[in-house]
Amino acid sequence: DDPTRPTGTGAAVLLASNRGPVSYAFDAHGELTAKRGGGGLVSGLSAIGPEVDAVWVCAALSDADREAARRSGAELDPADTGGRRVHMLGIDPRTQHEAYNDIANSVLWFAHHMLWQTPLEPAFGPEFRARWASFESYNRAFAQALAAQAAEGAAVLVQDYHLVLVPGMLRALRPDLRIAHFSHTPWAPLDYYRLLPDDVAEQVLRGILGADHAGFLTRRWADAFTACADALVGGTGRTEVAVHGLGADADFLRDRAHQEDVDERIAALRREIGGEGRRTIVRVDRTELSKNIVRGLHAYRRLLTDRPDWRGQVVHLAFAYPSRQDLEVYRAYTAEVERVAQDINDEFGTADWTPVLLKVDDDFPRSLAAYRLADVALVNPIRDGMNLVAKEVPVVSDAGVALVLSREAGAYEELGADAVVVNPYDVSATAEALHTALTQDPEARSARTKRLAEAATALPPAKWFMEQLEALGGA
Ligand code: F6P
Repeated sequence: DDPTRPTGTGAAVLLASNRGPVSYAFDAHGELTAKRGGGGLVSGLSAIGPEVDAVWVCAALSDADREAARRSGAELDPADTGGRRVHMLGIDPRTQHEAYNDIANSVLWFAHHMLWQTPLEPAFGPEFRARWASFESYNRAFAQALAAQAAEGAAVLVQDYHLVLVPGMLRALRPDLRIAHFSHTPWAPLDYYRLLPDDVAEQVLRGILGADHAGFLTRRWADAFTACADALVGGTGRTEVAVHGLGADADFLRDRAHQEDVDERIAALRREIGGEGRRTIVRVDRTELSKNIVRGLHAYRRLLTDRPDWRGQVVHLAFAYPSRQDLEVYRAYTAEVERVAQDINDEFGTADWTPVLLKVDDDFPRSLAAYRLADVALVNPIRDGMNLVAKEVPVVSDAGVALVLSREAGAYEELGADAVVVNPYDVSATAEALHTALTQDPEARSARTKRLAEAATALPPAKWFMEQLEALGGA
């Protein structure tokens, strides 16, 4: 049987992403339990309404996912997916690991976020070549699944750096399809991008250029892609390169942030913060090198050192939930975040004041609670495709928030005018920015928060998605 032969009941719209809208775990009794997936990409795609009958193809990322995929056959149980049609691909664990951890996250993510920093990384030797072959098979598995499930002329929206080879492979299998690719990350500048082996750099570009439409979060990332394509493969050819910004989902956030579990967490956080009228600096991230959490902590330490009046008057809520812990560099980074937070507490803490409240577990209602009570939000990534936290905080803030924002985050293009903007590498300037933000006049702060919330919600996820579908000629 040809695995790419279209099925009779093929879908008119298909989405493809590594992480899907649901993930599974085994509970204490060995039963499968389903949980909503996280991250910007999933939040963006999850807002697509029932009016779009789409099949979402994603990868099984754990043994529990693989078991769920094996049991469900073609599509997951709709009871687990909120009624969505989700096809979870059970790719073999080694191929999946090499594609996701070793290539997508260690090579492509590091290139686009400009994170290579030691004399040993990257090393493009024979091990890399074996892993690259896994990345190709993993992309091929997606292309074949999409080819088999797409109706004649269907629209296929392929997401992110994990699946950059899919558009080219899919076009070869099914020339009738309309294909889009969307990058949720930055795109590396040419001089950095060409540190990849020449053939790999070209293969990635040609993979994306197999699409009719290549989307980016900001003009800056789209231009960087075009510059790479012009220099390395003679231009973008027939592919339309476009910008589709992604904003916060105001209705969902405002509703979710006022449910009882969030109110309970606000009360609990207030108890932990202690002290009458203490101010709060809040950050919420994955423990991710590009988020620059360690420099953020150093900036806070500098604030307490240089401006002793703030001691006892401010608490830094740093929520850094675990991410990509299969990779040693992420485990080491998480340990470094914990060590620096502890150092600050040892140096400055008193019997009734803990300067840093670091939380390294994932608790969405607690994040919303912190958003609501934040006086200052610290969003200082080295580089970030967009950064939805910067957009979410002003939307749910109770009393107004001052946003300290890196100029290297995609969100800067839309929010920069009303934020306190920082160079993320400049720890002293970030410390000063924290002081400026903490002392912002309350009226000015409210007015800025309102403008930030308006800018942050101007491009709701459903609009982001429909724009791309329309760019492919509707569905
Ligand atoms: O491109 C960024 C992204 O895919 C976002 O959707 C999300 O914030 C993050 O990466 C998720 O990473 P992972 O799937 O590795 O947890």
